[in-house]
Amino acid sequence: MYSLLRPLIFALDPETAHQTALDALQTAHRFGLTTLCPNVPAAPRTVMGLSFPNPVGLAAGMDKNGAYIDALAALGFGFLEIGTTTPRPQPGNPRPRMFRLPEAQAIINRLGFNNFGVDALVRNVLNSQYLKNGSQKILGINIGKNFDTPIEKAADDYLICLRKVYAYASYVTINISSPNTKNLRQLQGGDELDALLSTLKAEQEKLAEQHGKYVPLAVKIAPDLEQQQIQQIAGLLMQHRMDGVIATNTTLSRAGTEQLPLHEQAGGLSGAPLREKSTMVIRELAAALQSALPIIGVGGILSGADAVEKIEAGASLVQMYSGMVYRGTGLVSECISSIGNLAA
Ligand code: FNR
Repeated sequence: MYSLLRPLIFALDPETAHQTALDALQTAHRFGLTTLCPNVPAAPRTVMGLSFPNPVGLAAGMDKNGAYIDALAALGFGFLEIGTTTPRPQPGNPRPRMFRLPEAQAIINRLGFNNFGVDALVRNVLNSQYLKNGSQKILGINIGKNFDTPIEKAADDYLICLRKVYAYASYVTINISSPNTKNLRQLQGGDELDALLSTLKAEQEKLAEQHGKYVPLAVKIAPDLEQQQIQQIAGLLMQHRMDGVIATNTTLSRAGTEQLPLHEQAGGLSGAPLREKSTMVIRELAAALQSALPIIGVGGILSGADAVEKIEAGASLVQMYSGMVYRGTGLVSECISSIGNLAA
């Protein structure tokens, strides 16, 4: 089905296509089109103290405002991650800011955290059915900083978002790895990360008491890190008792795409050319962490075999974004089955 629709979707500019596809999915969902609800195999697992119905999740960035939660849930994901959200609404970078590189099954984006702000995201979560009626469904909320907040004050933005989303999130992702917000990746440096994680851990403990529930914190890191940096980050994650790590965000590398006309566009590259790099980071992290905290693997999953590669490298769960664009919704159950076969 998706192979029939893909040429139509790809005829539109990528950002318009993205919006149109999500709107169409939402409409189909409202009309109760059950074909959208694939019978995905059950493959439960417990990670970060949470019960996931299956290990395949939607990566952050597809639903930045949490406006499509119920429709996306119908695709069979074991968990959804919405955001990145920021304290205040912001428009992001000027368009065009998203580019398809179909020959490489890749995307370059420099959206720059375009979003309606954390209050709008919380309203959308409250309006969705996803977490209603004591449901056990898993919703990650990915938080960041506004582009005009000085990097020295970044912690304030993360704190604002953490406090606002805490009651509604199954887990919260601290995004310090988008390449499209100036200096954001500096927060992965030793001193900066030490200070940020210490602040966030203290706040998490306070909030856990206030709300009577513990919401795990996961830190999302870049693929563009040296082995020594990965080891340092792993050490700090353990020292500050973080609950998980998401590896990886998009890359600044253009390896594997140099022949393509759009490769010089600024932004983060995702999809097939990112796969190996992201898997390497997962492997390094797994070696450094020694299972002290779980890894969520993301980057270039376009097949069940790619998902298995991430699990074999040390990930407990996987996420995907670009693969949905190139392969369509069938990729979700393909990955669940492949990971399930591995366990069998
Ligand atoms: C992203 N990604 C992303 N990540 C994040 O933490 N916050 C965000 O807002 C976004 N936004 C975003 C927009 C677009 C258009 C893309 C393609 C990606 C990164 C995403 O979650 C994921 O980490 C990478 O894309 C790698 O996975 P895939 O796409 O190769 O499966």
